[in-house]
Amino acid sequence: MKNLAILICLLMAWAQSGVAADAAAGKNNSVVCSACHGADGNSMVPSFPKLAGQGEAYLIKQMKDIRDGARPVPTMAGQLDGKSDEDLADLAAYFASQAKSGGKANPDLLALGQKVFRGGVAQRNVAACSACHSPTGQGNAPAGFPSLAGQHAQYTATQLKMYRKGYEDESGRTNDGDSKIMRTIAFGLSDKEIEAVSSYIAGLK
Ligand code: HEC
Ligand code: HEC
Repeated sequence: MKNLAILICLLMAWAQSGVAADAAAGKNNSVVCSACHGADGNSMVPSFPKLAGQGEAYLIKQMKDIRDGARPVPTMAGQLDGKSDEDLADLAAYFASQAKSGGKANPDLLALGQKVFRGGVAQRNVAACSACHSPTGQGNAPAGFPSLAGQHAQYTATQLKMYRKGYEDESGRTNDGDSKIMRTIAFGLSDKEIEAVSSYIAGLK
């Protein structure tokens, strides 16, 4: 009876290790990423995204898209070549488990940024960012809606401009699905609104 209990425990441990992503393995594999994304996923360079605290589902999708060419990131050429889906899941588990550092909003852009984030731009059919990315910018990890809070404003603005471009032009960012969920939203944003909402997002905690 005792032996059976031990066997069941061993089997359960084995089954769990088989399915659950391994954050420790991800940490080992993240050494090459740290040059750009920071050791704990908090990049110091405003054009390189912070990965710390990002939802696992979103991270896995982006890494697959970057690896397979659906989201071209020339700066990352070769970085994910030869990585299996399991390697990517391990990396995602590691970065998701890290705490994201905070940022600051430009006070001059706060009012407009907050208006766009919380209310959208009704006359151009831009939905409120908070509807999907949550009022605090934490996103919705199980749904794959990325966390935005504390992200570098420069990176966020670049993505919004790339989505806006991708609405009509294949050389923009086009990996947001057939419903063009983010491309449609970004298409309705002016440069000023992009600058303001990106700054507001950097200051969210
Ligand atoms: C030489 C610098 C560099 C290295 C090394 C690098 N990256 Fe990146 N990474 C970037 C840049 C730049 C972007 C975003 C480019 C853009 O779209 O504007 C990015 C984007 C990403 C994104 C998308 C983030 C988001 O919020 O959508 C993920 C995920 C990512 N990298 C993971 C990794 C992993 C994992 C590694 C290591 C195996 C790695 N990167 C190595 C520069 C780098
Ligand atoms: C209807 C839901 C929805 C709304 C509304 C929405 N988003 Fe998104 N957003 C998404 C989804 C889903 C993704 C991820 C797409 C993918 O999987 O590639 C995303 C991705 C992003 C990204 C890329 C994040 C990264 O790390 O690269 C940014 C930036 C962003 N959204 C900003 C905004 C802003 C700003 C607004 C408001 C003006 C907004 N979103 C409104 C659903 C939404």
